[in-house]
Amino acid sequence: MAKILMVFGSTTGNTESIAHLLEKKIAAAGHDVTVLNAADANPDHLAKGYDAVLMGCSAWGEEDVEMQDDFATFFEGFASMDLNGVKVASFASGDKEYPHFCGACDLIVDRAKELGAVIIADSLRLEGDGTSDPDEIESYVNDVLKAL
Ligand SMILES: Cc1cc2nc3c(=O)[nH]c(=O)nc-3n(C[C@H](O)[C@H](O)[C@H](O)COP(=O)(O)O)c2cc1C
Repeated sequence: MAKILMVFGSTTGNTESIAHLLEKKIAAAGHDVTVLNAADANPDHLAKGYDAVLMGCSAWGEEDVEMQDDFATFFEGFASMDLNGVKVASFASGDKEYPHFCGACDLIVDRAKELGAVIIADSLRLEGDGTSDPDEIESYVNDVLKAL
């Protein structure tokens, strides 16, 4: 059994819904999953003791990517999470009408790599609350599970 941490930032609840869909599947595979809202999470040494950290954040910019507010605050302390050597993947809900679809995923992955994390899956980018894309969720979870 692996210990998985999920941290999400979500304004209208879509990325939060995806987080819970992922949680259900990963827990059903026998793993221990902790889900935290970025609004309530303190990044200091947060990744310690976890085998993998999945981070979800919606994007709210127009031309440039702006992270969801709660996650943006959390992200300021990202370096103190102790991500070196930790398995990481990101996910988000977004809207394909915007130039950077689920653009916060790229910011998370790029910074996590700089901090020594090992990226274990392509970012999961969905529209809406994730309920219309069971196959994409399944495939992402399979990638994550294989890497544990
Ligand atoms: C002003 C504004 C800016 C947005 N910018 C982006 C964006 O850059 N990329 C994207 O994929 N979606 C963008 N969106 C869409 C939201 O990210 C999308 O509605 C998402 O489902 C919200 O997820 P949440 O409920 O988890 O916060 C934007 C929406 C608004 C209203």
